[in-house]
Amino acid sequence: MIRAYTITSGKGGVGKTTLTVNLGISLSLLERETYILDADIGMANMALILGMDDVPVTLHEVLAGKADIEDAIYEGPAGLKVVPSGISLQGFQQADPDKLRDVMHKLVDRCEFLLIDAPSGISKEGVVPLSVADQVILVANPELASMADALKTKILCEVMGGKVYGAILNRAGIEHTEIRSHSVEDVLGVRVIDVVPEDANVRRAAAYKSPCVLKYPTSPATKAFRRIAAQISGVEYEEEDAGTKEEGFVDRLARAVFR
Ligand SMILES: Nc1ncnc2c1ncn2[C@@H]1O[C@H](COP(=O)(O)OP(=O)(O)O)[C@@H](O)[C@H]1O
Ligand SMILES: [Mg+2]
Repeated sequence: MIRAYTITSGKGGVGKTTLTVNLGISLSLLERETYILDADIGMANMALILGMDDVPVTLHEVLAGKADIEDAIYEGPAGLKVVPSGISLQGFQQADPDKLRDVMHKLVDRCEFLLIDAPSGISKEGVVPLSVADQVILVANPELASMADALKTKILCEVMGGKVYGAILNRAGIEHTEIRSHSVEDVLGVRVIDVVPEDANVRRAAAYKSPCVLKYPTSPATKAFRRIAAQISGVEYEEEDAGTKEEGFVDRLARAVFR
């Protein structure tokens, strides 16, 4: 079974951290022991999204050789375990990306799923996560620039000896010139795992420091995150899992908008 996934992209801001956090919680809700690791050590924002930005020890200190990984693991929502990264530039400068391999091996021994939020681009700290995980998930938005960058990342991943599990098309519906799943498969040469719609509740939830899958259980993006979690853990996706409270007008409207 695949246990460690690196979540990456060519371009920043496509939704890697959002996916890592929401997928992590969705896997936890399926009672899978799940850890998420913020390996985007230069532009870390997992801690901000989860309201954990004041924790004393982060991945920065671990990669600087100043702390043990045990001390950087925190309890997140729904039993999810979180290893955040620090947000200071100084902490980033002192962190050694080569130590990530060791950290990842220690974490993967403790859980069923490890999701690694990787930096975008082709920096050293971006390249290491591509080869340490069992599989790599590419996140892209349905626009040409994002596709082109994702393709570069895919090639880089293969050069580094990493395996691409597939791509997730996030924020679908944002562009009028929508790129469809099958053309993504043609361009990237990888399968599209799933499509996550553009959903204002994702940003709304981030503003509350509460992930979308918990704050808005019936929102269209939540359904997509939970569907992906079900796929990864090999169980059938049950929509009523997400709660049927708001079924009705809101759901019908969302379906019409994101069709
Ligand atoms: N499906 C979505 N619908 C609407 N907004 C989204 C969606 N996914 C991500 N976002 C927003 O896009 C921005 C970038 O997402 P983020 O996860 O931080 O990207 P990355 O980690 O790739 O840099 C955030 O403001 C986030 O709330
Ligand atoms: Mg991010």
